[in-house]
Amino acid sequence: MRYDSITEAIGNTPLVRIDPAVHGLRHIDLYAKLEMLNPFGSVKDRAAWNMARSRLPGARERGEAIVELSSGNTAKALAVIAGMHGLSFKSVTNRMRIPEVKDLLLLLGAEIEELPGRSECLDPTDTEDPLTLFHQRLNESGSAHLHTDQYFNALNTEAHESGTGPEIVADLDGRAPDWFVACVGTAGSSTGVARALRAHDPAVRVIGLVGEKSDFIPGIRNVDEVHEVGLFDPATYETIESVGADDAIDGMLTLVRRCGILAGPTGGAAYHGTVRHLRPVDAQLRERRTAVFIVCDRVESYLGYVKQRRPELLSRPPARNSVSALTGDEVRAAQVIEVADAQKWIAAERPLVIDLRSSFAYAALHIDGSVNIVDELFDEVVRGGLPFGKRQPVLLACPVGEQSARYAALLTRMGHPDVRSLAGGIIAWRDAGAPLVRD
Ligand SMILES: Cc1ncc(COP(=O)(O)O)c(C=O)c1O
Repeated sequence: MRYDSITEAIGNTPLVRIDPAVHGLRHIDLYAKLEMLNPFGSVKDRAAWNMARSRLPGARERGEAIVELSSGNTAKALAVIAGMHGLSFKSVTNRMRIPEVKDLLLLLGAEIEELPGRSECLDPTDTEDPLTLFHQRLNESGSAHLHTDQYFNALNTEAHESGTGPEIVADLDGRAPDWFVACVGTAGSSTGVARALRAHDPAVRVIGLVGEKSDFIPGIRNVDEVHEVGLFDPATYETIESVGADDAIDGMLTLVRRCGILAGPTGGAAYHGTVRHLRPVDAQLRERRTAVFIVCDRVESYLGYVKQRRPELLSRPPARNSVSALTGDEVRAAQVIEVADAQKWIAAERPLVIDLRSSFAYAALHIDGSVNIVDELFDEVVRGGLPFGKRQPVLLACPVGEQSARYAALLTRMGHPDVRSLAGGIIAWRDAGAPLVRD
C-alpha cells in the first residue's frame, strides 16, 4: 500500500469476525467494522474529509478557518485536515469532558472555544442556547469560516452511504448483513450505512444505540438528546436502545481483552448492545445469520473516563463515596423538590445551593446566591467525605435534575440529613419563570 497523502488511507477499514466463544451466539456470525483504524483514529475521519475536501482550496484562498461544533473525534480529524492544508481550525463546544481529547486537539493546533450550553452536543431546537446562536451566526452569509456543520451536513451521511456501507457488503461477499448496529452521535454513520445496506436488501434491521438517560458515554447522545440531531430520522432504525456507561465499559473490556480490538467506550456499547439484542433472537434461529456493529474509535483517550468510573480496572481502590456505587432504589429515594417549593425553602431556610453545571453555563445564568461546583469537581470532593457540615441544608441543581438526584442520594448515604435535588433542574426553574442572575 503506497499513498501520496494520509487522507487516501481514510476508509477501507477491516471487517473482523468476533470469536463465537466470546459472544456466545450460536446461529449468528458477528462482525466488527473497525472504524477505529482510520488514520486520525475514528469513524469521523470519513465524514470530516467528505465535508471539507472540496471546500479547502477556496477556504485557503479566502484565509478562512475551519470551524465545527465538536468536542471529540470530528474535531480531531478536522484539526489534522486543517493543519495539512495550511488552515487553522476552531472547535466550538460547550464542554470538553475528555481531558485527553482536549489536550490532543491543542497539540494538533486546534483553537478551542468553550461556550455555555445545556448539553454537550448542539440542540438546534433551543433558540436560547449560546451554542445554537453561535451555529446560526456561522451559517449566516458572509461568515469568514469554513463551517463543516456535521449535525446538518448531508455529506456527513454520504461519506458512509458511499464508503462504509458498500465496504461492508463487499466484505460479506456481496450480501448485506441481517442486522446492523451503530451508536448514534450525529446519526451520520448509522443513517448512511443503513441507506447503503437497504439499497442492497431492504430487509436489513438497523438498531441505533444511545446512552442511558443521564449517563455519559463520550461521543454519542443519550435517549433524551437523540431527537435533537438534524440528521436523525427515527424511520432509519427498527429500534433505538440505550446502553449504560458500565455496560459500555464491560463491552469495551471484552473487545480489548478477549478480541484484541482496542476499542473505546462506544465500540464497547455497540458490542454490548448487539449481543444483548440478538441473544433472544439467536435462541429461536435455525439458519445462519449475520450481524455487523461499528467500532468507532480507540481506547487510549478514555483512560481517565475509565479511572473515574471503574478505578479497580486500573488497580486503584474502588471509590467508596461514588455515585456509581449507588443502587437504583437509593437514587429513587433521593429527596426531590419542585421549583415553587424550592423557592419558598430557599427564602425560609437558606440552604446552601450548589449548581453542578459547567462554569460557562453557570456564568450565563444561575440561581442568585448559589455556588458553582462543576459535577466532576464535586465528584472528587465528595470522595474525601462530606464537604460541608450536616447542619446546613443543601439544594443541588443540575441541567435537568437527574444528576443532582444522584448526588443527593450519595450525600444522604454519607449521612447528610437534609439534601434535596431541584426537580427538572435549572431548565425547569427557568421555564417556571423563577429568577436567574447572570455574571
Ligand atoms: C466515539 C464516537 N462513537 C460514535 C459516534 C457516532 O457517530 P455519528 O456521529 O456518525 O452518529 C461518534 C461521533 O462523534 C463518536 O465520536
